[in-house]
Amino acid sequence: MSKKCVFVTGGAGYIGSHCCVELLQADYDVVAIDNFANSRHTGAGEAPALKRVEEITSKKLTFYQCDLLDAEKVNAIFDKHQIDYVIHFAAIKAVGESMQFPLLYYKNNVIGTINLVEAMKAHNVYHMVFSSSCCVYGDPEHLPITEDHPTGNVTNVYGRTKYLIEEMLKDLTHAEPKWNIISLRYFNPVGAHPSGRIGEDPTKNFTNLMPYIAQVALGNKPHINVFGGDYNTPDGTGVRDYIHIMDLASGHVAALNKLSQEHFRYKTYNLGTGEGVSVKQLAAMFERVTGRPVPCLVQPRRLGDIVSMFANASRARQELGWTAQRSLEDMCRDMWRWQTMNPRGYQDDCDAGAAATTGQAALAKAAAVTNGVANGVSNGVSGH
Ligand code: WQD
Repeated sequence: MSKKCVFVTGGAGYIGSHCCVELLQADYDVVAIDNFANSRHTGAGEAPALKRVEEITSKKLTFYQCDLLDAEKVNAIFDKHQIDYVIHFAAIKAVGESMQFPLLYYKNNVIGTINLVEAMKAHNVYHMVFSSSCCVYGDPEHLPITEDHPTGNVTNVYGRTKYLIEEMLKDLTHAEPKWNIISLRYFNPVGAHPSGRIGEDPTKNFTNLMPYIAQVALGNKPHINVFGGDYNTPDGTGVRDYIHIMDLASGHVAALNKLSQEHFRYKTYNLGTGEGVSVKQLAAMFERVTGRPVPCLVQPRRLGDIVSMFANASRARQELGWTAQRSLEDMCRDMWRWQTMNPRGYQDDCDAGAAATTGQAALAKAAAVTNGVANGVSNGVSGH
């Protein structure tokens, strides 16, 4: 039987690249796109993260630099490939930035999704896994949070775009029963592939806790700023459900299996561990795993932060046969391996790529000059 093909938007990103590893290892063909809004690329439009994905899996994937706002190019890719499923990661997701530039977020995240869905429909592709977020729950009314908790009471524009896209996809499946869509609501993805060859390497200023802790452990920052030390939590600091990026990635393969087995139009699943971990607990674990000090300095609360958020992930266990397997220690250890093996993330690959491109250009130019001279001499001889 021929392999099934998965079209992955945002494939060069942190979550997308780790998911591509799992897809290739599950024997899917992968066609990935990325506009490099928050992922590194070589001058030649290549994605170093995906080159390393191919190295890890010893398998090839197809990559196009493509923005979902370029509907023509998206459709051209669908024309070229027999796509069976879509996993839609592509989005910009900096909470603070989303409050400063709302239209940028609505255009990129919402309009981009509409372009994608229209291209799918035009090519009779109706199976999709959408990368959603626990942000859609807003400030939780109860914990652990279940999928039937109300959504929409979001506290930032980023979360509102995820909420609006979920509602749009739900409406679509009600209007056109052919659609079969799963929204996966992520909690806090952290860590890296155990090889240390791929990991989180944001091009935008990161504000998330885990990358910041790693910078402190590396000695690049003096301490972490703990946003709030007087919350109603065991140690007064914010609580989140941190999930290993490889567990998150395997959740997507489980979702594709579900789509291939059953037609249900629209379902949502929490992808979390079900464990709440505080800022100070995460910092202490990172210290223990790395042996490096991670000093904490308590600062005023961060505007828009919720106090505590962690998942009830039983629906994914019951219906997808998926549960998170890796521990907080694994998350810290794998993050540290990536960070210490790649202190500049993928930048070295980009520099090497740029140098190679420049080198090739220089060689091409030299060859042209040489040929020109050679031709000039031959012309001189031939006299025309
Ligand atoms: C975690 C905790 C902060 C930084 C993330 C993503 C968002 C979405 C949900 C997927 C909070 C505290 C942080 C720091 C700190 N993921 N903190 N000092 O806010 O939960 O949102 O998960 O869609 O895209 O951003 O993650 O890592 O910013 O914060 O004390 O320097 O750490 O207050 O309690 P958050 P975060």
